[in-house]
Formats: sequence, structure tokens, C-alpha cells
Amino acid sequence: MKKFLSLVVSLIILSNVTSAKEGMWLPMLLKSLNEGDMQSMGLKLSADDIYSINQSSLKDAIVSFGGFCTGEIISDKGLILTNHHCGYGQIQSHSSVENDYLTNGYWAMNHSQELKNPGLTATFIVRMEDVTAKILEGIDSELKESERQGEIRKRINNLVEETTKDSDYGAYIRPFFYGNEYYMFVTETFNDVRLVGAPPSAIGKFGGDTDNWMWPRHTGDFSLFRIYADKDNKPAEYSEDNVPYTPKHYLPISMSGIKKGDFTMVYGFPGRTQEYLTSYAIQQIKEVINPDQIAIRAKALKIMDKHMKASDKVRIQYASKYARISNYWKKWIGENGGLQKANAISLKQDRETAFLKATKGMKEYEGLLNEIEKRYLAIEKYALARSYFVEIPYRKMEMLRLANRFTSIINQTKKGEEIDEKTWTALKEKVALHLKNFDLNLDLEISAALIESYKEGMAPEFVPSIIKSKATSLKFYKLYTAKSVFVSEDKINGLLNNWSKGKAKKVEKDPVYKLMKQFWNLYAKEVRPAYNAISNEIDSLSKIYVKGLRENVPGTYYPDANSTLRLAYGQVDDYEPRDGVQYDYFTNTEGILEKYDSENVDFNLPGRLVELIEKKDFGKYADEDGSLHVCFTASNHTTGGNSGSPVINGNGELIGLNFDRNWEGTMSDINYDIDQCRNISVDIRYVLFVVDKYANAGHLVDEMKLVKTVAPVKVAMEK
Ligand code: ARG
Ligand code: GLU
Repeated sequence: MKKFLSLVVSLIILSNVTSAKEGMWLPMLLKSLNEGDMQSMGLKLSADDIYSINQSSLKDAIVSFGGFCTGEIISDKGLILTNHHCGYGQIQSHSSVENDYLTNGYWAMNHSQELKNPGLTATFIVRMEDVTAKILEGIDSELKESERQGEIRKRINNLVEETTKDSDYGAYIRPFFYGNEYYMFVTETFNDVRLVGAPPSAIGKFGGDTDNWMWPRHTGDFSLFRIYADKDNKPAEYSEDNVPYTPKHYLPISMSGIKKGDFTMVYGFPGRTQEYLTSYAIQQIKEVINPDQIAIRAKALKIMDKHMKASDKVRIQYASKYARISNYWKKWIGENGGLQKANAISLKQDRETAFLKATKGMKEYEGLLNEIEKRYLAIEKYALARSYFVEIPYRKMEMLRLANRFTSIINQTKKGEEIDEKTWTALKEKVALHLKNFDLNLDLEISAALIESYKEGMAPEFVPSIIKSKATSLKFYKLYTAKSVFVSEDKINGLLNNWSKGKAKKVEKDPVYKLMKQFWNLYAKEVRPAYNAISNEIDSLSKIYVKGLRENVPGTYYPDANSTLRLAYGQVDDYEPRDGVQYDYFTNTEGILEKYDSENVDFNLPGRLVELIEKKDFGKYADEDGSLHVCFTASNHTTGGNSGSPVINGNGELIGLNFDRNWEGTMSDINYDIDQCRNISVDIRYVLFVVDKYANAGHLVDEMKLVKTVAPVKVAMEK
């Protein structure tokens, strides 16, 4: 009996340990590292069902959507599900004041109405391979670091070349654990990806920037696209002759609903995490970099908001830019709050103490942490200057950005070189896009305000002389730019249509061009080289630090996200954000009506949705509790780039669409905390309800495979 009890106790402890998981795992290593753990948490599949190169597997239904989000295939006709905010740029590009798909949504009622999107891609992973040995073997540790890196780069290029020659596939190789390991990914990229459907923003972006990064959430953040292929099912440029792609696998959709504790996994392309930073690095992010970036963006957003509220045209022009700027502004605020609350700096100090203790006497690691700390002290000034450059002239002063696009044709023309057709076309496209989404008054006001911030925050040696001694007000900037070609659409087009050596010289004297040159040159000469040099040193030291940790300090080690395919797993779970507050793990449509406010753009609703909800006309999409679930939280470790990733249950069926994290947990990019970090997903049944009941696009649901599993009877002891 005693033995039996202790068995039960240890089972309980074990299951506690494995009840939730930190980490983003490499699909090809699931079999050796995670399979047992995942199965004990409720996975009914094998690791081979998730990733295999010999049979079709879940991976064949996952795409990198445009390189910045994830999408999944949900029908045998190449239908892709991703987020509304991932398709946002495309939806915007098809929108105008007359045909405002951002506001009203868009639904193709047949294939011929599906809209092409030049430049948009969907990339599958054909296979991955551990190439550490090929990249590192025999590399002389006596080599200087820069020579070592050069040799590595050479080997990477050769291997990619060798792998892709005579094949339609692409390939890339990325370092893992700061270059302790290397993996190669062989890819297949489709570039005819068409827009199929998008809900109105009042559904797809319900809650707007107010609710962004927050729970409880009621956003139907989804859109639908379709991959088209040539008649051999191979990638092809857009053509009317292309046909819907037939996938190797597509995700069946679960209609069974979810319960707290259910096993979940998120399969996708997380962008970037830095879990192995030292305490000094985190301190710098939290106390130096984040606060200034937050302040700069807050200022820009306020000005944008004013102009967007005053004009519908400006609202559409800047919708996507505003969302992008606001997104990380708010994320950084949450990140700082979370780091503070979790005491992240002291947690990392604990890890450093453990490292010192475990590696005591090992020569390789002697003094390592001090060296890293020194580099962080040295890089601070340059890291901040880099932030200011990126946040101000580079990203937010749009005329400067446009002027910079002329740099290379100016140089070529002055040297008497012929400018090829491709360069012209690319430049003309960029200029057209700039003009379509540009408002002069908005740009003048933001630029003037941010020049002010730049001068306040930057050491004098990083400030362009043109603005250094001037009182830089809106009046100054208006006057300064008044004679520039870049304030006038006609003059810009005039430039492009009659390009000559004389024009090249004229642009060089243009005030906007001159200011741009000063900013860009300062950055290229005074900031980037120093920043890169120290940053490379930090990377080399971090490589040793991470190796030391993995070999000597017990813990869970998974590679940082680097936009490669990963699987995160966990369970449907709620959380307690603050003392005395307990959040539920799902929301339903009642909450949509509670938030409804026709006076507030973030919470306005289409009348038809209100009607359907009030009538409880949910059809087969209702939960067994009678309500229609909208969003849910789970403990999958995700980050930017995981947007649009499928949330999959233990049977390999789609239960939700990942689109966000909770504010308290956005620090998970540098410090994952199982109590506080949750990913936020839209319940797949709400997606289907919107497609079918709201938009009357049931023909799309008919393409999908809906499955309902009867809940297995729970038995106490299976074996
Ligand atoms: N925070 C989510 C992500 O990082 C959603 C962003 C889009 N939504 C928005 N309201 N701006 O992408
Ligand atoms: N919304 C994010 C994205 O676009 C996902 C949320 C996150 O950062 O976890 O990828």
C-alpha cells in the first residue's frame, strides 16, 4: 500500500512538473527530447506525426506567411488561415475610400474573386538537418574570431549552394545557441498567394490598440488566403492559369471545444527571443533602451492619431503604420512591468551565481561573466544611439526615408553608370507606395517633434550639424523642407520621369536629402561599426556562456527563436495577473456586447454581428455550454512571428489561431514565467461562425474538414 501511495505521489509530482512547458523546440528533435513529455501531457500523436520527412506530417500544413507571420493550410485546396493583423497590409492595399475592405471586410464568393498580392509569399519547410559538424568541424580555434566567422560564412554559402543547385527548393542555415550548433532548412516558396476573406476590422481588430496585448480579449483576428500553383502543383509567378495548391497535409478542425488543462501545441515561426541574456543585458533593456523607445513612440502615436481622426484618407493611409508602431510601444511597456514584477534581473543573477559555482576551476569560463559585463557597459552608448537612429530618422521621418531610396541611383549616375530596368522598376514601386500612404502635414509634425527628442536624448556627437544649433520647431522643419522636391508629388514624379546627371546633382543639394545624408552618415560612421564590433564580441562570449550553462548547470535548454520552425507545447490555462484577481481561460460573445461602444472605433460593431449575438444564432459553432466562445489562453511559449500559428490539440486538430500574448507575460522573450506567460488565441469555432453565419461564406467552411471527437471516458488507471 505504502509503495502504491508513493507511486501515486510521484506520479502526481511528475505530472505537475510536466503540466506546462517553457520552450520553443526544434521539430526534428521532438522525438529525442520531448515526445514522452508531450504524450504524458495529452498528446495522442507521435513525434513523427508532427515532423517527418518520410511521410506527410503536421509540418506540411504550416507556412511562413510573408516571412513575418505564420499560416496554416486548412483545406485540400490550399486555403491558408492566418491573422487579420498579418494580412492587414494586403487588405489595406486592396482598400480605398470607396472600397474600404478594412472597414467592411472582404469575402471572395468564388475563386475568380480571390485577389492577388504581389510580393506576398508562403514558404513550407521541406526538411531540416543538423549541419553543425559540416559548419564547425576542424575549424581552428586558434583562428582570429573574424577569420573564424569568415570561414563559417564560406561553409554556409557553399552548403546552401550545393543543396539548392539543380533544385527548385531554397535553403538557409542558421546558428543556434549562439553558434554552438547549426541547422539547415530546405524550403519551398509559393509566390501566388491570394486574399480570400477578411472580416471587418470591427471584428478582426475588435478592441484595437486598447485591448492589444491584453486579456480578456474578444478579437476575431483572422483572415483567409489561398496558395496558387502551376498545373504540376509547383510554385509559379501569378498567372490566371494557376490553380489552387494541393497540400501534402491540411489541418482538420476540431468542433469538440476545449477545457482547462487540455494539451495544446503551437507550430510556427517565432521571430526572436533572448532567453540566455545576462543580468546586465536585461538591466540595460529595462532601464536604458525600453524607456526611451517607449517615449519616442508615444509622441509619434499621439500626432498620428490626431491626423488620422481628422481625415478618413489619412486614417486609411496610416492604419497599418500606426498599428505597427503602437504594437511594440505597448509591448515594451508590458515587458518592463513583467520584468519588474518577476524580479527578472535577480533571477538572472541567480543563474550567473549557479554558473560561477558549477564552472569553478574550469579555465574556459574563468572571468567570462566579467568580460560580458564590460562589453555591456561599453555598448550602452551605441545601443541607445542605434535605437534613436532606427526609431527616429530611419523609421519615422518618411521624407528622409524616401530620399534615401535615391542614394544608389545618384551614385551610379554620377559615375556615369547605366541604371538597369530592374532597379528603376523597384524604385518606382517604392516611390508609388510612399506617395499612396503619405501625408505631408503629418510627416512634418512628427519629424519636427522627434528631432526634438533626438536632440534631447543623444550625445552631441551623434546630432547632425544641420539641426544641432537650430531651435528645431515645426516652423523650422516646414521652412527647412519647403523647397525640397520631396514635399511635392509632382516634383518627385518629375525626377523619376526625366532622370539625368543634372537631376542627380540637384537632389544632392536638396535639403531633405542633405539632412538624411547627415543622419545616415553619422550612423554608418559613428554608431554602426562600434555597435557591431562590441555586439559580435558579446555573441562570441555568449556562445561560451551558453555552452557552460548547458554542460554544467541543470535546467531546460532550448534554442532562442530565430524565425525558424518551432513547436511550443503546453495546456489550456488561466492565470492570476495580480493578487486577488483570477482570470478565466476563455471569453464568449457576451463580452463582445459588454465592450460594444459605437462611439469608440476600437469597440464599435457591425449591426449584423450584434443581431446574431443577441439572437444567439450560433448554429453548430456554439459550445456545449450554449455560448459562443471567442478567445482562450494557454501556456504555450510564443513570440512575434507566431501570429497566425495554429493551436493544435492532442489529436492534431486545429482548435485555435494564435494572435497575441498577455501583457503581464510579454517579457517571455527574455524571461519566461510559467505563472504569468500566456498565449492568446481566437477559438476556431468563432472564426467559422464569422465566415459562415456572419459573412455567409459557408462555401469556405465546406472546403474544410470539421471533426467532432466523442470525449473518452476517463479511467483512473489505464495499465
Ligand atoms: N500584439 C499582437 C502582435 O504582436 C497583435 C498586433 C496587432 N493588433 C493591434 N491591435 N495592433 O502582433
Ligand atoms: N501578435 C504577435 C505576432 O504578430 C504574436 C504575439 C506575440 O508576440 O506573442 O507575431
